[in-house]
Amino acid sequence: MRGIGDALFALLACCLTSCATDELDQDTVTTLFGTDPRVLRAAPADPSEVRRGEALFRAEGSCARCHDMRAGRYGAGRESQRVVTADGAERHRDVPALYDAARQIVWGWDGWFADPVRMGLEDAVGRCFANLERTAPPAAPLGESRDEPIQALTAYLRSLESRGRWDRFVEGDRDALTADERGGLEVFVRTGCAACHGTRLLGGRSIHPLGVAEPWPTDDDPGRLAVTGEDRDRACFEAPPLRLVAHTAPYFHDGSVDELSEAIRRMARHELGKELADAEVAAIEVFLRAVGELDPR
Ligand code: HEC
Ligand code: HEC
Repeated sequence: MRGIGDALFALLACCLTSCATDELDQDTVTTLFGTDPRVLRAAPADPSEVRRGEALFRAEGSCARCHDMRAGRYGAGRESQRVVTADGAERHRDVPALYDAARQIVWGWDGWFADPVRMGLEDAVGRCFANLERTAPPAAPLGESRDEPIQALTAYLRSLESRGRWDRFVEGDRDALTADERGGLEVFVRTGCAACHGTRLLGGRSIHPLGVAEPWPTDDDPGRLAVTGEDRDRACFEAPPLRLVAHTAPYFHDGSVDELSEAIRRMARHELGKELADAEVAAIEVFLRAVGELDPR
């Protein structure tokens, strides 16, 4: 008996080890992450318009007041800000990164602009512009007309496109990620994260209830309900891109979590009903940090 028990144990141990080092094949990688919504982008912008947009963005009291464009922040804010949301109410929201925003198809935590048929990014810029008009001092730095600055700002944001090892990996270069990073990707997919954080940006394309498996600790933000007025949209939020998540703490719509490991753990618990082992959290974190390693521009 003991012999059989040992053999079973050995078999199980072997299976566990090989499960832990399993890697996704290229077809699975392409299916889950190959799509890049970049196709929705308009023609390349005129460089002088991009420069004008950048100047507007960085002007005193303007966008950069909340969206931090200093090295390594990619436009993400360090603390949440009071902004006007779809129903006119003011709420505290985390300030998202802006690099690669042109490759998203949903913008805003509640997906206020989720209609890719319209000029989505331009709408999102317009929405934040309106926020600025409401919160900035009367001598708003952006001038009288709205259309021209919004177009220039959108052109600037479209120019903030990044590329890194993750892109080369998805395109077929296996060695662009290390074995540990590929292992972390496998845990990410096996846990179920890619269901909502798929495509090249790992999100930015869909809206989901927050707390699918277990209620979220806070419920003071109605989420997409404020956009549609429909009760089924209560506490529904955008699954944001995770491409830059290594750099953009704090996390979630209310900026309530500082550590990436804690954000990963909470997602598994509240969205998937799974308690991850420390090693699984660490593996996913290694993967996400690799995704955030971008080529110098
Ligand atoms: C008062 C702080 C503040 C200012 C000023 C500000 N933003 Fe924002 N921005 C935010 C916050 C907070 C969000 C998220 C809002 C939400 O989802 O409810 C956001 C979201 C965005 C988004 C959507 C990004 C995404 O991935 O969902 C874009 C685009 C954007 N801002 C562009 C701009 C531009 C351009 C300006 C200048 C005209 C600007 N913002 C000024 C705080 C600010
Ligand atoms: C059912 C869909 C769903 C699944 C599955 C899911 N997420 Fe999320 N994720 C979301 C939503 C929605 C948000 C935004 C939550 C909010 O508004 O605060 C989010 C936010 C995040 C954030 C914070 C990003 C930021 O910029 O603040 C991280 C990190 C994250 N998810 C990682 C994961 C990981 C890792 C997994 C797998 C363990 C996972 N998610 C599974 C829907 C999902």
